[in-house]
Amino acid sequence: MFSRMRRLSWAAGVTAAAALAMSAAAVAEEPISYKEDVVPIVQIRCLECHQPGGDGYVQSGLDLGSYAGLMKGTKFGPVVVPGDALTSNFMVVVDGRASQAIRMPHDRKKLTKCEIDILRRWVNSGAKNN
Ligand code: HEC
Repeated sequence: MFSRMRRLSWAAGVTAAAALAMSAAAVAEEPISYKEDVVPIVQIRCLECHQPGGDGYVQSGLDLGSYAGLMKGTKFGPVVVPGDALTSNFMVVVDGRASQAIRMPHDRKKLTKCEIDILRRWVNSGAKNN
């Protein structure tokens, strides 16, 4: 009886450890894709203003309708520094690290923590057109 219990709890421990290892690997290895992860967020939350004719585009020159537009940035220059979310203005305004007046999406509900994380991880992993 005692040894059977021990074997059961050992098996449960191994299963839990394996599950943990698997989820850690999934988190570490799952690459963020521009097309599959970033575009859906930008389309729903930013494009309204950041395409020709939109308020954000007219005022800043930032066209978020394509990868080329995003990487080109505003009329003042790039907003994405590949590999460095901390200094990318794209992330500065989404995080609300600059003034509230230019927190993005402008005058709209803040992105969720999860959406912001996706954008951050995409920039930090090189901001690729993947
Ligand atoms: C309701 C309209 C609107 C929405 C939605 C919006 N923006 Fe903007 N955005 C603006 C306007 C207007 C400006 C110009 C603000 C300024 O320069 O004072 C701007 C400027 C910017 C800038 C340039 C900031 C700077 O000064 O360098 C970035 C980067 C930006 N937006 C990113 C985004 C992102 C990313 C989203 C979606 C998560 C988004 N915006 C959604 C209106 C919007």
